[in-house]
Amino acid sequence: MAHNHMIEMLDLDAEVLHDYHSEVIAWVGREAAGQPRIADLGAGSGTGSLALARELPGARVTALDVDPEMLAHLRARAEAEGLGDRIGTVEADLDQPWPGLGPIDVVWAASSMHHMADPARALASAFGVLQPGGLLVVAELDSFPRFLTGTPDEPVEDAGHVAMDKRRHEAGLHMHENWGALISRAGFAEVTERHFDIALPAPLPPTGARYAQVTLSRMRHGLEDRLPAAELATLDRIVTGLPGRTDLSVRTERTVWLARR
Ligand SMILES: C[S@@+](CC[C@H](N)C(=O)[O-])C[C@H]1O[C@@H](n2cnc3c(N)ncnc32)[C@H](O)[C@@H]1O
Repeated sequence: MAHNHMIEMLDLDAEVLHDYHSEVIAWVGREAAGQPRIADLGAGSGTGSLALARELPGARVTALDVDPEMLAHLRARAEAEGLGDRIGTVEADLDQPWPGLGPIDVVWAASSMHHMADPARALASAFGVLQPGGLLVVAELDSFPRFLTGTPDEPVEDAGHVAMDKRRHEAGLHMHENWGALISRAGFAEVTERHFDIALPAPLPPTGARYAQVTLSRMRHGLEDRLPAAELATLDRIVTGLPGRTDLSVRTERTVWLARR
């Protein structure tokens, strides 16, 4: 169940933040070689792989992930969209030596670099698989989506984020790396950085409210053993009451780096 929620949350992120995702893909499209061979690192439910195959005609994508359930979902979506012949999946733990990928023109890593045990090593591997002149794309979250800004429940969401940040830090996730410096250190040139300050105002469409519900419900379960019972009960009340609320908005910040081998 928790896993299904993760998949649904990633799919909803793609849908609700559609404009952000398509702006990044368009940027990559302008910079990438024609008919690029793409490796999507930590492809998850397929947000990047599908959009890249859809938007870049002739692109072929290899989606890599350690999680076979994610890859099964991604494959089903690719088939349903008629993109199955241009998207392949490879189950791989990218903390281990990488599988052979053949020549690659674009390495895409969206919200996945921070999961790597050693991001510097992963970036060096990305450098190693890219053709000369090939493109590296790293997208990371500066802040996780917030839905309750300006509402009476904002402080509860804020406290939840503080506790989740602590949890991620203790789990060893690399949330606040200086990615530009790490990318340069791995040997890449022409490192360009773009910051996206995303704000979708209230009222949100039903998919937005569902995104809020899945995200805050995951937060609540992630904090099960970290918040006092009263705060968990407050979060429960908020999560239950989300559908139909007209004061929900989305705030999130992302940064994307493009660089050349
Ligand atoms: C937050 S999700 C991002 C998914 C997708 N790139 C997106 O933008 O929606 C991170 C993904 O990285 C994968 N992942 C985490 N550690 C990994 C590793 N060591 N090797 C391969 N994939 C990994 C997870 O299974 C998950 O699907």
